[in-house]
Amino acid sequence: PYDAKVRALLGRMTVDEKLGQLQQLSWTGDTGPGGGQTAEAEEAARKGKLGSVLNVYGAKSTNALQRIAVEESRLGIPLLFGLDVIHGFWTTFPIPLAQASSFDPAVSERDGEVSAKEARSNGVHWTFSPMMDVTHEPRWGRIAEGSGEDTYLAAAFAAAKTRGYQGDREAGGLAAKDRVAACAKHFVAYGGAEGGRDYNTVDVSEAKLRNVYLPPFKAALDAGVATVMASFNTISGVPAHGNQHTLTDILKKEWGFDGFVVSDYTGIQELIAHGFAADGADAGRLALGAGVDMEMVSTHLVDHGRKLLKSGRITVGRLDDAVARILRLKFELGLFDHPYVDEDSAITEPSKAARSAARKAAARSMVLLKNDQEALPLSPSVGSVAVVGPFADSTDLHGTWSGPGAQKFPAVTVADAVRAAAPKAKVTAVKGVDAEGKDTSGVQDAVAAAKAADVTVVVVGEPPAWSGEASSRSDITLPGAQEELISAIAGTGKPFVVVLVNGRPLTVGGWLDSAPAVLEAWHPGIEAGHAIADVLFGTVNPGGKLPVTFPRTVGQVPIYYNHENTGRPYDADNKYTSKYLDLAHGPQFAFGHGLSYTSFSVGEPKASTRRISAGALRKGDTVEVAVSVRNTGERAGDEVVQLYLHDPVASIVQPVRRLRGFRRVSLEAGKSTTVRFRLRAEDFGFWTNDTGGTFVLEKGDVDIYVGNSSLATNKTSLTIA
Ligand code: IFM
Repeated sequence: PYDAKVRALLGRMTVDEKLGQLQQLSWTGDTGPGGGQTAEAEEAARKGKLGSVLNVYGAKSTNALQRIAVEESRLGIPLLFGLDVIHGFWTTFPIPLAQASSFDPAVSERDGEVSAKEARSNGVHWTFSPMMDVTHEPRWGRIAEGSGEDTYLAAAFAAAKTRGYQGDREAGGLAAKDRVAACAKHFVAYGGAEGGRDYNTVDVSEAKLRNVYLPPFKAALDAGVATVMASFNTISGVPAHGNQHTLTDILKKEWGFDGFVVSDYTGIQELIAHGFAADGADAGRLALGAGVDMEMVSTHLVDHGRKLLKSGRITVGRLDDAVARILRLKFELGLFDHPYVDEDSAITEPSKAARSAARKAAARSMVLLKNDQEALPLSPSVGSVAVVGPFADSTDLHGTWSGPGAQKFPAVTVADAVRAAAPKAKVTAVKGVDAEGKDTSGVQDAVAAAKAADVTVVVVGEPPAWSGEASSRSDITLPGAQEELISAIAGTGKPFVVVLVNGRPLTVGGWLDSAPAVLEAWHPGIEAGHAIADVLFGTVNPGGKLPVTFPRTVGQVPIYYNHENTGRPYDADNKYTSKYLDLAHGPQFAFGHGLSYTSFSVGEPKASTRRISAGALRKGDTVEVAVSVRNTGERAGDEVVQLYLHDPVASIVQPVRRLRGFRRVSLEAGKSTTVRFRLRAEDFGFWTNDTGGTFVLEKGDVDIYVGNSSLATNKTSLTIA
């Protein structure tokens, strides 16, 4: 609907003004090297040579900058303000990896809504989220920002978060005062970083690219995502920022994406370091030519665009296309009519409702990894509780990329929340050890507190800065002397439970046997303590499931549930099979694992047909798989019924199983329900290695597993004829 306006405006723009729209500068240096471009941004805005600014927020600050662009530049084109609102603006929700553990995409949709409202009222139009990089790498710090190792799960969460941020785009959602444009990132295959080292090389076949890494982006596009961010990695030798195949052939042509592609921070400049571009001009040419529309932080397009145009190394057509994509979004956001935000109605703190949503989201995201002899839940009438560990009384529980909220609003501590949940209990908080460092001199105080208490809650994990961008680890055990602390508490012989607050899967093998119960709380956000206490005391019965495999040791990495079979699959009795000599086979905790304070039985899958033709599926026919689930325990609770497919004979070897359906259901004690999954052609088929994109639906048998983790054994089969 904005094409005529965009064309008219483009017709009035000089080359410099057009190139200026492609430029984004960073107000601060908070999220990468070489930011803090405030003076440059003001000057460029004044000259009408700036499209966007990132890392600026606040009604007053954004209005002041916007005024320069709108009132002082020749054409008065408004600026687009972008910010990494990843899991909250003021109200920090749990990290995205935690949200994926809820197996309930509505959790992320709600985060998107709350975040969008707070951010937009503070002048932010655009968030660099959702992040949807599938990864098999727990060492990679950015695993915290995505939905884990599964493509199907990541796609569901990417779509939900996009809807939450943007509202109903078709109905003009982006112009609303409580919505922001979303950005699907990082395009693409960033999660495949070799060795889990950030920014690292990715060598990936076309089939893997299309079956594993691309589907969440397609799901975000189908949900209307307005923008896409290129990734820092190379893709089979070609940097993502210079990758015409992914950015133009697939994203823009095959999928018809009409939004714009923003580079990552200095991503265009980095084409030189990759050894792909000779110099800045070459980098600009390659990136624009490949399909990048806006340059973040580095300035090669504005610096060299004129001479590139003159020499024919970039075309006016491509330049206009990039500018049009950016202007279209500015129109759609309503910035030409309403460039400023109302300073009096800026939201300045988390509302009660927002806090309550964050608390629910966090509790819903927690995963009960172990619970021997019903060590959990704790009784609210417990006489005394020791809360020990570096995160027992810590407010630093927001997680990575926690946005402006974390600087202003400390998270609720576990110790305080335990006091609130068990008001009659004597609660002592003792740190014992730091999160980092090997000093164990405080352990004796923690042990004394544990000895004096009826029960001890040990809160251990990773500092938030240990995950996220540029935060890879080679060792994924609990840092510092935290394992020693757990051993010392176990040594008291008194009841205790362990709560983990972390941003990635950890290897927990060393101390797991000694701990009666382990709750994976991830980094839960602003309401951390309350959400943890809700689960510890049973106000919330945990129902989250792992969206990533927990390895036994880092030496097993990559280990993920949806791997291919070798020709010599694991067999304990046969030496010449795929395994480690020095390690029990399989993960510590499987994908999809998570316990509850009640128990469930999941029935046999019943397919609506035993045989269906590929042609019928292609025409839109579906197969229904019905599964009954019963709460066989004594309290109400949630179960996530999971459906996995396996194609045993295919022209490209298929994963041993692939998640193709999940549903989180709440059931009262003794109650049951039937979950119905609908499987379509896209569930049964797969992409081949054809670079032009070929999706095949091959004939033969397909196995269908249902259960409550990726180890599900209830099975049926059908034939695609
Ligand atoms: O959005 C981020 C991206 O995920 C990593 N580099 C910096 C960008 C902007 O802050």
